Amino acid sequence: MEQTKLLALLDQMTLEEKVGQLVQLTPMFFSEQGEVTGPMNELEMTKEELFQIGSVLGTRTKEDVISIQTTYLANSRLKIPLIFMADVIHGYETIFPIPLALASSFDTELVKTTAELSAFEATRAGVHVTFSPMADLVRDARWGRVLESNGEDPYLSSQMTRAYVEGYQGEILSDKDTLAACVKHFVGYGEAEAGRDYNTVDMSDLNLYQNHLPAFRAAIDAGVKLVMSSFNVWRGIPSTANKYLLKDVLRNEMHFEGLVIADYAAVHELINHRVAADKKEAAYRAFSAGVEIDMVTDYYQHALPELIQDGLIEMDQLNQSVLKMLELKNELGLFEDPYRGLKDETLDRDMTPLRAKAREIAGQSMVLLKNESILPIQPSEKIGLVGPKANSHDVLGAWSWIGNPDKAITLEDGLKQAGFNPTYVEREIDYVQLKYCDKVIVAVGEISDEGGEGASKTSIALSQRQVELIKEVYHWNQNIIVVLVNSRPMDLSAIQPYVKGILVSWFPGSEAGIAIVDVLSGRVNPSAKLPMTFPQSTGQLPMSYNFLSTGRGINEHNHAQKYVSRYLDSDNAPLYPFGFGLNYSQIELDQVKISQIDQTTVEIKYQITNHSENAGSEILQVYMQDKVTEVARPERELKYFEKIHVAAKETVNGMIRLGKDDLSYWHADLSFTMDPGAFDFFVGFDSHAPLAGTWTYVE
Ligand code: IFM
Repeated sequence: MEQTKLLALLDQMTLEEKVGQLVQLTPMFFSEQGEVTGPMNELEMTKEELFQIGSVLGTRTKEDVISIQTTYLANSRLKIPLIFMADVIHGYETIFPIPLALASSFDTELVKTTAELSAFEATRAGVHVTFSPMADLVRDARWGRVLESNGEDPYLSSQMTRAYVEGYQGEILSDKDTLAACVKHFVGYGEAEAGRDYNTVDMSDLNLYQNHLPAFRAAIDAGVKLVMSSFNVWRGIPSTANKYLLKDVLRNEMHFEGLVIADYAAVHELINHRVAADKKEAAYRAFSAGVEIDMVTDYYQHALPELIQDGLIEMDQLNQSVLKMLELKNELGLFEDPYRGLKDETLDRDMTPLRAKAREIAGQSMVLLKNESILPIQPSEKIGLVGPKANSHDVLGAWSWIGNPDKAITLEDGLKQAGFNPTYVEREIDYVQLKYCDKVIVAVGEISDEGGEGASKTSIALSQRQVELIKEVYHWNQNIIVVLVNSRPMDLSAIQPYVKGILVSWFPGSEAGIAIVDVLSGRVNPSAKLPMTFPQSTGQLPMSYNFLSTGRGINEHNHAQKYVSRYLDSDNAPLYPFGFGLNYSQIELDQVKISQIDQTTVEIKYQITNHSENAGSEILQVYMQDKVTEVARPERELKYFEKIHVAAKETVNGMIRLGKDDLSYWHADLSFTMDPGAFDFFVGFDSHAPLAGTWTYVE
């Protein structure tokens, strides 16, 4: 539809119809279907109001969408089609690994492909907008939502966030295979105090700009269509009513031109935060701060018309938001086809290739943490199998509403499919059988419900019961490989001495069992790396590799002294650092040379050799320390990564250039500039990479 027609449509709308466009409800209003993640039963909507709303959250099937859209269009005066939005977080019916696992791949193409495939399947079920990616930076593994994130590094998270947006949105939204993306949660949600969901957040502008905004900027650069405001307060004001964040930062400074949507019932929760006395004040605070769509409350529906009539909100402001909603519907092609291809019999609906892709993607996302000559397992070996995750279908992870766990492949089935004949032992009384196995796989970790929204924990340690299980198995057989199925970094200190191999499979999705066996057996050579630090204990949290230099940093000379930044009962080091992960090859980096190209460009040349007979991939990582700076800066920060494939016995030469944008940072006055002086570069395969050289910027 042409823009003039959209404007004419806007002109025909009554005040109530305009407001309705900014209201989002669940399918339960139209039928008994849908997910409920917050309070919605109290809403008092009339039928007339229902047929004025703009969007629906959380349908499950194409039939639901067709039926709701048909009923809606038949009953609404102007027949503006509904938009259907949903949480397509790591796949729709075919479930891919959780986002934290995808970030472990350090492979943006893989993430983009996952988003494309998710969009392909979700659009066939009538979804138009996904509430993904989650760009929140995370440093506290107690927070259940770390599984939806890209981890603790702003650069990694930015690259991944961009890849999601590009994958979901494709070249053009009128293409029926694409989804509009909504990046969330703006902003700071990942820093909830004590890792407790929805808790207070307080941070400096420097932290905001340096760590939390970059991934959102990347999404905006990639053309993301929507931004979701976060549940948390920020400097005492909930994000959903925070003018500074939503107007000054998001609109004026970051130039976001799309729609801002509140999180579920967050407009209502302004009353719980006690920053609004009633519905009218909450609606006023949210809308005037810049929240345009009200998710599953009746606050906008019932309070905005009065706020406009009272002159507290300008009609112009409302018109702008409604026009953006109409424009998004138009971009998605809904005015031409409100069913967006659902009734088109010729549309490709073959989902079989997605399962093969899910297997491949899961294999690329698992991190091998420990391998004392125990992996890969061989077909000739007798393999024991034990543990709560050994034949469990609970492998999809949180935010996989539509995925059917019964259709997911268990580890036991995966072993059988791959030709192993595991001795699966369930009862303690039968553990004696493990004595006769060459190796024992102990599959442990978390249940899906231990991750995701509202799933914070005070301990990230493997449960005592599972630790005891490993010790018991150790009594019978000391060749133990632990397969971890998990939503978050876990404290594995207690089991370290008892096991020879550890594979972090995360929640791998529909193809879990076979994808795990691909890696255990060497069919897939692991290449993924940790996107979040694995600490030695929960007490070390929050933790990330890119901490700021303190006045009393610990080093080899002072580590025994009292008045340094350390713990009395633990050292500061993590159990496994950010960026770490093993493979079955022997890949080495050498001949790293740093040179100056021009005043602000540095060049890093390197050589990577695979000394083994196993083709493999390494993630080359470049970290930097800006040596003397105006404000305290991280000890080191990731500036570049690349997945490099190296054939058996092959040597690969490469070159990287870093320029002004990579070497600049946010200063106290919020200028993004470079400081003159020296920069150290660390090049290698994890965040403990050795110093490769120093380069000096002369102003
Ligand atoms: O998209 C989610 C959000 O991340 C958390 N609250 C509910 C929303 C919609 O389901």
